[in-house]
Amino acid sequence: MKRDVIIACDFGSAEECLNFLDKFSHLERKPFLKIGMELFYSAGPEIVKKLKEKGFKIFLDLKLHDIPNTVKKAMKVLSNLDVDMVNVHAAGTKEMMSAALEGLTRADGTRPLLIAVTQLTSTSQQAMTEQLLIDNPIDATIAHYAHNAMEAGLDGVVCSPLEVGKVKESCGPDFITVTPGIRFADSAKDDQVRITTPALARELGSDFIVVGRPITAAVDPVAAYQRCVEEFLTEEEFIYNPSNFI
Ligand code: C5P
Repeated sequence: MKRDVIIACDFGSAEECLNFLDKFSHLERKPFLKIGMELFYSAGPEIVKKLKEKGFKIFLDLKLHDIPNTVKKAMKVLSNLDVDMVNVHAAGTKEMMSAALEGLTRADGTRPLLIAVTQLTSTSQQAMTEQLLIDNPIDATIAHYAHNAMEAGLDGVVCSPLEVGKVKESCGPDFITVTPGIRFADSAKDDQVRITTPALARELGSDFIVVGRPITAAVDPVAAYQRCVEEFLTEEEFIYNPSNFI
């Protein structure tokens, strides 16, 4: 099983991101990074290319959600960036997810992992019911969206660690779960609602945890990253072995 801690690099510029990553340059384990909308919209594809050249694995978290043809063409462009993981919103329908997969697959058959966002971890049951008019319980909705993603041929979903059990039950143990909403027992919740600690995420069977502010806003980001690694990975995975990682 491939598992890892992914640092959400939610920075406003390439310079800020590169300065932050300099702190990690002495580590044997190169962190897996998530580049989201903020950094991609400000620094563009160049920052992705630069970080790939430096040897980082990249989850490009742009959460595509549009008509199938537009998503297919956009995915073709992202696939050329040679990232390791990209995503779409499952709410875009199975047709859109299949189109994304098609666009992402290169001529030689290779492609980055493709995962779907089910419900954002900042969304509460109340917001889902009152604002989105979805009456089903949040975990049933998430399991259903995950099943749609699996049927469309995707590799996994983004969900809260609290939903991993339901997702694996519905889609099987190999269906990847990438889980944000991670907080240390002693840190602030910020705007996240459905949160767990790295240790609980591991117990619940999460494959990848995505951690932003608990690392990026920490007084000592490297120590915070290492705390995540120690809590989330097993001892065998913790001892750096490249074959344990995608
Ligand atoms: O700072 P924090 O740890 O809350 O960052 C979580 C990251 O995961 C953010 O970049 C956010 O956009 C992303 N994310 C999320 N919930 C999802 C999908 C992505 O929090 N369902």
